[in-house]
Amino acid sequence: MGSTMISKKIGVIGCGVISGIYFQNLTEFETVKVVACADLNPIAAQAVVDKYPYITAMSTEELLGDPSIEIILNLTQPEFHFEVMKAGIAAGKHVYGEKPLSVSFDDSQEILRLANEADVRVGCAPDTFLGAGIQTCRELIDSGAIGQPIGATAFFTTPGHEKWHPAPEFYYRIGGGPMLDMGPYYLTALVNLMGPAKSVSGSARITYPQRTITNAGPKNGTKIDVEIPTHITGTVDFTNGAVATVMTSFDVWGARLPFIEIYGTEGSLSVPNPNNFGDTVQILTSEKGEWINVPYSRPFSENSRGLGVADMASSIAAGEPHRASGVLASHVLEILHAFGKSSDTGTRVELTTTCERPEPLPSDSLVFRK
Ligand SMILES: NC(=O)c1ccc[n+]([C@@H]2O[C@H](COP(=O)([O-])OP(=O)(O)OC[C@H]3O[C@@H](n4cnc5c(N)ncnc54)[C@H](O)[C@@H]3O)[C@@H](O)[C@H]2O)c1
Repeated sequence: MGSTMISKKIGVIGCGVISGIYFQNLTEFETVKVVACADLNPIAAQAVVDKYPYITAMSTEELLGDPSIEIILNLTQPEFHFEVMKAGIAAGKHVYGEKPLSVSFDDSQEILRLANEADVRVGCAPDTFLGAGIQTCRELIDSGAIGQPIGATAFFTTPGHEKWHPAPEFYYRIGGGPMLDMGPYYLTALVNLMGPAKSVSGSARITYPQRTITNAGPKNGTKIDVEIPTHITGTVDFTNGAVATVMTSFDVWGARLPFIEIYGTEGSLSVPNPNNFGDTVQILTSEKGEWINVPYSRPFSENSRGLGVADMASSIAAGEPHRASGVLASHVLEILHAFGKSSDTGTRVELTTTCERPEPLPSDSLVFRK
């Protein structure tokens, strides 16, 4: 694209753990330029400026009021996503945020409604489904390599984020939990591969009512009261007729489960970890009967967090739909909540939303890179 590309200016709100990879990667994309950052903790914002002197540290209000900023990148904890998204929209900016779009499904719908009224875009992580691994799987499915998808599995297990995150409390508050935290990667990948879902059944439990922070950081030994289920399983029926078995858990010491597998009428597909952009893609067909590695047919196998907001910026400029969209994120959020709702009510939950599958990322999309 060369140097004629006009970059959309981004203001980042929230300079915590995940912000590091965004600041690093967003220097790489031609379609965006981070110009400002804000954090309730001024030391966190200053640390960004120390590393990237062309970025200005501001208060959240100053950043929202800066007319040169076109996109708000919301990297706050989940409980603040709704307020920050609303404030960004009210300021007339496009908004893109970390997952989940909001804590409650209703709030995600409100974000979409307000953005529609204000004629601004909403984007949301995860953008890992735009990476080489899942985009290669998408091409295989779309080309009929495993026939018609009939089923899938999706599993995430860990003994808990308090083992490594310096401030893990939010994972155990409303808005946290394994389904809202990790479910977005898995369900976004499944919707991207197989299309929207129509109903969900689930079971959920709290295993440990209190957790202890065990990483070596300053909060070591601190107790966390657990407000949300930490072991959640269930099934998802997709509009295309496929049925997925899903489990997400913060309560499992070890497991030998695959990340995601898709089962088709002509074969099976081993989908790499949807929390990453790359990792090995494998296929087994009825003809061959054994697993073989598939080389990537798409770019972005390395950690490319930020690709979703870069795609949103170029799509705005081109007047085309962006891929990591608020509509997709809200549909996924409804699915994630439906596991708990089904568990609480003892009934299968019919979903009220749907979405289009995002367009595949073209193989020449390396042009996004500077
Ligand atoms: N940590 C990870 O590995 C990881 C990975 C993928 C996604 N995420 C997602 O990224 C988001 C942030 O996670 P994190 O681990 O970086 O959290 P964090 O607690 O390390 O950082 C969040 C920061 O946002 C700031 N903040 C909150 N409200 C604000 C406001 N109104 N104005 C300015 N600053 C505000 C906080 O002060 C804090 O520094 C979450 O949604 C999480 O699910 C995190």
